[in-house]
Amino acid sequence: MNRRRFLKNGASIAGIGILAPRLMVDKTAGMYHIEQFTDEGLSQFTYAILFDQKIVLVDPSRDPQPFYDYADRNNASIIAIIETHPHADFVSSHAEIYRKLKTRIYTSDKLHAKYPHYPVKDGDVITLNNYLLLKILDTPGHSPDSISIVLQENNIDKAVFTGDALLFGDVGRPDLREYGSNENEQRASLAKAMYATIKNKYTPLADSVAVYPAHGAGSLCGNATRNVKSSTIGYEKKNNHAFHHADEAGFVAAILKDLPFIPKYFPYDVELNREGAADIQPGIKK
Ligand SMILES: [Fe+2]
Repeated sequence: MNRRRFLKNGASIAGIGILAPRLMVDKTAGMYHIEQFTDEGLSQFTYAILFDQKIVLVDPSRDPQPFYDYADRNNASIIAIIETHPHADFVSSHAEIYRKLKTRIYTSDKLHAKYPHYPVKDGDVITLNNYLLLKILDTPGHSPDSISIVLQENNIDKAVFTGDALLFGDVGRPDLREYGSNENEQRASLAKAMYATIKNKYTPLADSVAVYPAHGAGSLCGNATRNVKSSTIGYEKKNNHAFHHADEAGFVAAILKDLPFIPKYFPYDVELNREGAADIQPGIKK
């Protein structure tokens, strides 16, 4: 299994030096690297943002060992975890990593997570160093408590981690939450929220911003996801149907149409992730 994939280097030191001479004295300034880990079976992506020998993990998959190994190889520490939403299709290792490393976990204040965490809301900023920061976007639609994270370098948006809100060529399904009696109404409400998310949160981003979702092709969190590993806002604006609907009604009808089945374990996983799951190893030994 190809669990790791090199994606992107930070700005070159030479480039930074020419554009901003004050940075030449600090040869690590503005440098970062985004590592993508793939769980092929679930078509799920975890991201490690590496900078200053520190790592921020986004949506860590069930087994945390590859992330510990990655940190060791880079002589780095995992300093934070961001959960974009409580996943329905897999169990996240956020709680396990917290128990081992006391790593800060950031997630939406709307989730009311039951594990120790830092609740975040739209516009909040996590400062990484003098050059890098993470900006939180409230991006409901796949779930009411979905957030995206914009990586900014020297005040320029570089990448957005979209969870299951914006996917490659699609958006996340709006029917995997709120399993109450009026489910049609709840799905329509989330679909409307997704319309606003596309219009007000993703459309204003620059075309050059890289798009890193939590899932790729084949995932049941999406419907018609393109089989690629990364994209850009510009490409999605041109080619993703979600950006092309004239009005909310057309958008809602389109994303509620022909949805795949919902595996029975999905509601269970959402609650498990909201609570924080037990470690993986004892479970495997049982
Ligand atoms: Fe999801």
